[in-house]
Amino acid sequence: MKRAFSGVQPSGVLHLGNYLGAIRRFTDFQDEYDCYFCIVDLHAITVYQDPKELPKQIDDTALYYLASGLDPEKVTMFVQSDVPCHAELSWMLECVSTFGELSRMTQFKDKSKGKESFSSGLFTYPVLMAADILLYDADVVPVGEDQKQHVELCRNIAERFNSRYGETFKVPEAVIPEFGARLKSLQDPLKKMSKSDPNPLGYISLSDSKDEIANKVRRAVTDSGREIVYSPEDKPAIANLITIYSLCTGLGFTEIEQRFAGKGYADFKKELADVVIETITPIQEKYAEYAGSGMLSSTLKEGAERANQVSSQVLKRAKQRMGLSLLADPTERKLL
Ligand code: TYM
Repeated sequence: MKRAFSGVQPSGVLHLGNYLGAIRRFTDFQDEYDCYFCIVDLHAITVYQDPKELPKQIDDTALYYLASGLDPEKVTMFVQSDVPCHAELSWMLECVSTFGELSRMTQFKDKSKGKESFSSGLFTYPVLMAADILLYDADVVPVGEDQKQHVELCRNIAERFNSRYGETFKVPEAVIPEFGARLKSLQDPLKKMSKSDPNPLGYISLSDSKDEIANKVRRAVTDSGREIVYSPEDKPAIANLITIYSLCTGLGFTEIEQRFAGKGYADFKKELADVVIETITPIQEKYAEYAGSGMLSSTLKEGAERANQVSSQVLKRAKQRMGLSLLADPTERKLL
């Protein structure tokens, strides 16, 4: 079976972009791939997280994985910091990646822009991401478009390591959907929908109430004119809303245009709010069921055990190739 790996940061809000661009797609892989889906808490702490809130955010992300239909019988779901090989391989890979290539990462440039100080972890973030992926010999990495450059970097690091130290890592491929890979802010269609948006009207959170969703859709910015047509160049705001409508209903762009021919933005937005609510409500219901079921900690513990077994073999291989010491064999490590 081929392997799939992906991760989501437990940094507070999970939004519609995370769901439609990534988490919902994870379920498409679970029948055909050996899947590893990680809650990447070590990535989250590259910006300050309140230690009192982080454990809840980790659980929340895992519960949304389950509520979105990931089946722990089929996939390995685990928390990154429960698997020490990630941080260890990350350091080794930092030593084969360069300052120059990390400086070119657009996510780093965006997140550090205008800040006087930021953590060095923010800078080395993509190397940890490469370690995540390479530790599982992943063939595919389902992600949204904003992660494409990071997966490219991961491929480059893997190839460089292989050519310097001998064949060690599988070189993975990003799997990015044709539509919905970059949902835009509801307040600014030139920016991606993001949890770090200071204006909550820009994103729909998976925990928003029906009223909040209806309000955010109603207040979403639109373009000039009044036709509902998919034209990302001329009408980026409406194109974004049509994309959301399409992903929530499965209807194609032309069908949506036909459905709203002769109607205005207000009619379209009203129906859009309904279909978003219909998409999110069942997830919220399942979230509540799983939260009350008490199964989360055993799921994550079993996931961490499996992840530890697989990743420690790959780490051992990489350490051997680099000539590092193997006296404390990582395959002997047990999860505490
Ligand atoms: P994170 O937590 O920022 O986002 C999780 C996933 O959601 C996708 N995404 C979007 N998709 C469509 N439209 C949007 N507006 C949007 N915003 C976010 C992201 O592309 C991502 O797939 N670095 C990763 C986490 C990570 C990871 C990994 C992913 C760590 N290690 C290894 C894959 C493999 C991140 O920041 O995700």
